[in-house]
Amino acid sequence: MKIDEKTNQAPVDNRESVTFGTDRNKDFSKEPLCLSGKDVTRIFQTGKTTTTAVDHVNFEFHKGELISIVGESGSGKTTLSKMLLGLLEPSSGEIFYRGEPRDISTGAKKRQYWKGIQAIFQDPFSSYNVFHKIDNVLLDCINMRGGRNLSKDEKFAMMTEACSFVNLKFAELTNKYPFELSGGQMQRLMIARIFLLKPEILLADEPTSMIDACSRATILDMLLNLRNETGMTVIFITHDIGLAYYISDSIYIMEHGKFVESGKAEEVILNPKAPYTKRLISDVPKIHEPWDLSTVG
Ligand SMILES: Nc1ncnc2c1ncn2[C@@H]1O[C@H](COP(=O)(O)OP(=O)(O)OP(=O)(O)O)[C@@H](O)[C@H]1O
Ligand SMILES: [Mg+2]
Repeated sequence: MKIDEKTNQAPVDNRESVTFGTDRNKDFSKEPLCLSGKDVTRIFQTGKTTTTAVDHVNFEFHKGELISIVGESGSGKTTLSKMLLGLLEPSSGEIFYRGEPRDISTGAKKRQYWKGIQAIFQDPFSSYNVFHKIDNVLLDCINMRGGRNLSKDEKFAMMTEACSFVNLKFAELTNKYPFELSGGQMQRLMIARIFLLKPEILLADEPTSMIDACSRATILDMLLNLRNETGMTVIFITHDIGLAYYISDSIYIMEHGKFVESGKAEEVILNPKAPYTKRLISDVPKIHEPWDLSTVG
């Protein structure tokens, strides 16, 4: 963070000085559409109770854009993620992929769609097959990307590169099972998988929830480097509006299943219109005020 030596304060819009900041000047609305949705709705019926988890949401996510979906617990973020991933059907409305209605009506079409979209979930433990050794977790990624016929040495080199990208040593992981790793290591392994898979779209549902603040910044940094290197579209789901402000190009604010506000990150945060957005921002008192370090001992 760049601090003004005279005033001891950071600039008002201090995101540019954060290592994992995004290119603020890029206008993603000019990029091709990647995923979009029209009136996407999901209703759950349990017994006599009806819950509208996602309620007529509209969105346009462009190629290479980093979008954060921000909302409190129960606002419908995971339900929307599952629909974007094709794990859950919308009750009504339509999802478009590259501007065309998404068709995942057959197993083959679904598998084709899943080649382009990958997810990192809140709980990394749920993301792995516990009976699969880590070598196999990574080998699967290479195979999925058409590397089945590569030589053993080539595959080894790719796995080593992926591990070193996330500061893991492949030699220390071989022959281990995912449950033998720490939460932080496991989360890094998830990023190593994404490094190998290089998906067109990455959906990350609170991927840093299980780790401490320092590792969290490292993981985000890795994720954003990967985005910058590969040009993938990242959909980041979080409770944390401050974090969303720092890393995103666009922000969608979700309340009770609806998008109450959306737009470029700085517009939403510096000039919020919806009362809910204002409340979320007021919970993070220093989000766009100068940092006063004079009170820090
Ligand atoms: N399978 C289901 N059956 C019935 N209700 C569900 C189901 N999945 C989600 N819901 C309900 O839909 C609403 C939205 O849940 P969702 O998990 O999408 O919220 P969320 O924003 O991801 O919350 P969190 O931040 O806690 O992860 C909640 O009221 C939840 O209870
Ligand atoms: Mg959730």
